Formats: sequence, structure tokens, C-alpha cells
Amino acid sequence: MQPAIASASQGQYINLNADDRFVPTERLHAAYIHYPQSHNPSAPSFVRFEDEGLELGIVASEVPEIARAVSSMLSRSLEDAKNSNGGHLPSEVVERVQLEIISPYGVANLWGTYGHRFVLSREVDAQRSEIVATILVARRKGTIFFFTGRYNNLRHSTIDQDVDFLQPASNDPEQRWFAQFAFPGPPDFKPGAYHHIANFVVGKEQRGQGLSRFLLRALVDKYARDHIVSQGAGIEHSQFLLCGRGFWQIGDPPWLARMQKLGFYLRWGAESFFLEQDWAPLPRIFEAGQQVTNLAYNRSFGLPARYSDAQPPDLSRPHLLARIPEVIRLSQDPRAKLQYFQTMFEFV
Ligand SMILES: CC(C)(COP(=O)(O)OP(=O)(O)OC[C@H]1O[C@@H](n2cnc3c(N)ncnc32)[C@H](O)[C@@H]1OP(=O)(O)O)[C@@H](O)C(=O)NCCC(=O)NCCS
Repeated sequence: MQPAIASASQGQYINLNADDRFVPTERLHAAYIHYPQSHNPSAPSFVRFEDEGLELGIVASEVPEIARAVSSMLSRSLEDAKNSNGGHLPSEVVERVQLEIISPYGVANLWGTYGHRFVLSREVDAQRSEIVATILVARRKGTIFFFTGRYNNLRHSTIDQDVDFLQPASNDPEQRWFAQFAFPGPPDFKPGAYHHIANFVVGKEQRGQGLSRFLLRALVDKYARDHIVSQGAGIEHSQFLLCGRGFWQIGDPPWLARMQKLGFYLRWGAESFFLEQDWAPLPRIFEAGQQVTNLAYNRSFGLPARYSDAQPPDLSRPHLLARIPEVIRLSQDPRAKLQYFQTMFEFV
């Protein structure tokens, strides 16, 4: 076995190599994680879907071929989010994420160690498999993969102790890092009992074939404990199960429509905003050569209109209804720019 990607010099680069999605099947099978306490310890450590010719499993993300495959899939997908490619993010923001978070090194070492890295694959020939989709699911329900660019893998229960909310942005102590953001208060930031998800991507060559729906269905059917129990179904693999109630996502604005189509719902009142400061201007975004104002950007994602027009949501879900007036106010503040929506998905 090759050594894991253990140092940044081995794998911190922007990986746009499409061919990296092909991995030796033997390496993929060796990377699946066996959970000794599984209820079915002698079962294979992955699930095969014979009819579709697909395979799903949790892999060790530090295996170099796997880290490179996942990194290439995520990085190529994120290229499309560049403002210069018609997307919603400044190029420098995309490149920072590609280098620091979803490089092969980042995939292997940053969030991966706190999450279950699922990969969906198909065999292409006797030796090789193609990774066609991936998702990272937090192992613990309390894990928050990222909290502004300065915190990774936080525990929700200790957020107040672990985060310095008064820290300076740089040298001037009056210029506070957290003055640049508006988000739900720490106790409400994440709904309890839901797994944070990130890196939910279908390969660019594989889109529009229903694979994202398939992956979500397969995760629920084969890995969500509550669903398996409610169906009286057996456990078909010797991997971890997901014991939370569902998924929780901090999603970029354009993702909301996609996620809603896939069965996720908006967590009302949980939007995050950037707050522009004189000492911290936001990178500009352009559309058809015109700079987009924060207000126009917010409006293009349905804010504040969605909260005046829409029906109230299911009150049994962990929405933040009391924060909606604040979200409406922020979305009409010329210095506030929508950063994220939160979305959720129920297993049962
Ligand atoms: C979003 C994504 C995962 C969908 O994967 P996919 O396998 O192509 O989707 P499916 O073929 O299963 O289609 C699922 C539904 O989503 C819709 N959909 C797919 N891409 C969409 C998009 N860009 N905008 C709106 N809806 C979209 C499809 O129309 C389909 O709905 P329908 O069946 O009602 O027509 C994939 O496009 C992707 O990886 N995008 C880039 C990364 C991303 O945005 N990830 C989500 C946030 S982490």
C-alpha cells in the first residue's frame, strides 16, 4: 500500500485532472472501511447495486488514488462556480477552496477525518472503476465542518468555548473578524441530530442521469439506521450506519433550487450574510459586464420576497422563525450579501 497523503507538499495543488476519477478497482476495494462493531461484520464493506452496475461505500479518504479522484471531481465541479465561468463566486475564492480544502491533501486530511467519505462508482473494465459521485457526511451529529474560513471541524456543543467571537480580523483589534458575518446565534446555528454534509457532487460527465437522486436514496436505504429499522430491513454491509435524523447542509445560494428538487427543504430564517465593512470590502461580482449590487444579488435568490409570499413551513421542523424579520432586514441592507442558505433532508 502506498503511503497516505500526509504532507501538503504531496498533495496541495488545484486538481483539474479529469482522468483522476478512474481508480484501480483493487485500490478502491482496499479503501472501503470495515466497522468491526457492525451488526453484520461478515458482510462486504460496501454495497453493490447489480441492476445499475453501481457500488457504494465509505472509503478511507487518505488513500492517495481516492483523495485524488475525489479532489478532481470536486475541483472540476467548483470551476463552474467562478464568476468568470458564469458562476456566483469570485475566482480567487474558488481557487482558495480548490487549494486549501479540496486539493488531494485537503480531501485526505481536513474534513475527511471527521466525516464518512462515501463514493459511488462503476466498473469500467477488469481493472478500473470510475468514481461517479461523492458526499461527505459528518460522523458525529455535532460536527460542523466549517464555520467562516477560520474554523474547521467544530463541535457544536462547545462552539462558545472553541470560537473566539471577538478576535481581530487582522492587526487592528477594533476590526473584528466576526463583524464580517451575520448568521444564526451559536446555539441555533445547527439543528441537533442532523449530520452535516459537504462535497455532494456528481461527476461532470455523469450529470442528468439521476445519479444524485440514486445516491441519496441509496444512503437512506442502506446506511440510515432509523430508515432501516422503520422498514424492518437488514443491514447489508459491514460499515458504519448513520444514526442521525437526516442531513444538514450549509449551501451556496445557487444550490438551493437543486437541493429542493432532490428532497431537501430550506431551513427558514437560517441564512448567513456577509456584512461589508469599510475595512473589508467584498469582492465584486459581475453579470453581463455589470457589477451586481448586494441587494440585486439577494433578490436574485428570492430574498426577501420568499418570506412574504410563501406559506409557513412545517412547524415540527427546526426552522428559525424568530430570526426571519432579521433575515428580511439583512436582505434589504445594501451592505449585506447572502452567503449561505441552510437546507435539511429527513431520513424517515
Ligand atoms: C446538483 C447535482 C448533485 C445534481 O446531480 P445529477 O445527478 O445531475 O442530478 P439528477 O440527474 O439526479 O437530477 C436530480 C434533479 O435535480 C435537477 N437538477 C440537476 N442539476 C440542476 C441544476 N443545476 N439546477 C436546478 N436543478 C438541477 C434535475 O433537473 C433533477 O430534477 P427533475 O428530476 O425534477 O428534473 C450535480 O449537478 C452537481 O454535482 N452539481 C455541482 C455541485 C453542486 O451543486 N452540489 C450541490 C451542493 S453541495
